[in-house]
Amino acid sequence: MVINDLDAKVAAAAEMILASRRLVVFTGAGISTESGIPDFRGPGGIWTRFDPDDFTIQKFLSSRETRKKQWEILVKGELLSGVKPNRAHHAIAKLGRIGKLDCIITQNVDNLHQKAGNSPEKIFELHGNLQWIRCMDCGERYSVEHIMALLQGGVEVPECEKCHGILKPDAVFFGEMLPPDTLNAATDHSMRCDLFLVVGSSLVVHPAALMPAYAKEAGAKLIIVNIGDTPYDSRADILIEGKAGDVMSKMVEKVEKGP
Ligand code: APR
Ligand code: ZN
Repeated sequence: MVINDLDAKVAAAAEMILASRRLVVFTGAGISTESGIPDFRGPGGIWTRFDPDDFTIQKFLSSRETRKKQWEILVKGELLSGVKPNRAHHAIAKLGRIGKLDCIITQNVDNLHQKAGNSPEKIFELHGNLQWIRCMDCGERYSVEHIMALLQGGVEVPECEKCHGILKPDAVFFGEMLPPDTLNAATDHSMRCDLFLVVGSSLVVHPAALMPAYAKEAGAKLIIVNIGDTPYDSRADILIEGKAGDVMSKMVEKVEKGP
C-alpha cells in the first residue's frame, strides 16, 4: 500500500486497528525519548557514546570499572525515577482501555507502559525491567529507589548489603539469555496476531527483532512508526516516519472516533 502523506497513513493505520481482532504493539527505546530517556542507535543514542561491547554480562561481572560505568549510564538514563510516560505511551494505554490491544511486547526496561496504565499481565518485557536490582550471589532483591539513593549519595558501585555480592539490575545484558517464559509468550502472541504495530525501534537486536517476522509469517499486517530506517521497512503494510508522540496520539484519536 503506497500512501504518501502522513495524515492519510495515520488514518489508514487507524482503520487497520479498528478492523483488527488481535493487535500486538511492539515498542523500543524510540517511544521513550520524548520522556527524556536516550535511545541507543538514534542520533546521540547511548551506543553512539559508549561501546556496547563494554556492557556484556561477562564484562559487567569481571570488571568493577565496567560496573561503575554501567551504573553511571543507568543513573543518567533509565533509572531516572522521575521519568514519566509520554503521549505515545498514553495512546497505547487508551487502546488497552477500549479493548483493542492483545498485548504489548517491549524491549524497554523503563516501566513506562505500566506507569501509563497498561495492565502488567499484558506487557511482555523481553529485556527485563529496571525496577528491581538483584544480588548475583544470594538473590537478595532491592528496589530501584533504594539503590538510586545510594548512587546519588556517592556510592559508585553498590554491593549487596547481605553478602557483599555483585548487584545487577533486573535488565537483560548483552550475552545474557532473555527470560524464557516472556520470550515464549511474546513469540506466541506475535504468531497469533492479525496486526503488528512497531513504535520506536530500529529492529536490529535479536531475538526481539524476530517478532515482526513471526507476525508477517502468520499473515498479520505490519505497521511501523519510527524515525529512521529499519530492516523491515520493505515488508511494512504502512510505514510512518514520524515522532511517536504525535503519530500515536493522532492514530488513537481516530480509532476512538470509530469508522
Ligand atoms: N519517535 C519515533 N522514533 C524515534 C523517536 C521518536 N520520538 N526517538 C527515537 N526514535 C527512533 C530512533 O531513530 C531509532 O530508529 O527509535 C529507534 C530506536 O532504536 P534503538 O535506539 O536501536 O532502540 P531499540 O530498537 O529499542 O534497541 C533494542 O538494543 O541496546 C539494546 O537492550 C537494548 O532494548 C534495546 C535493544
Ligand atoms: Zn547477596
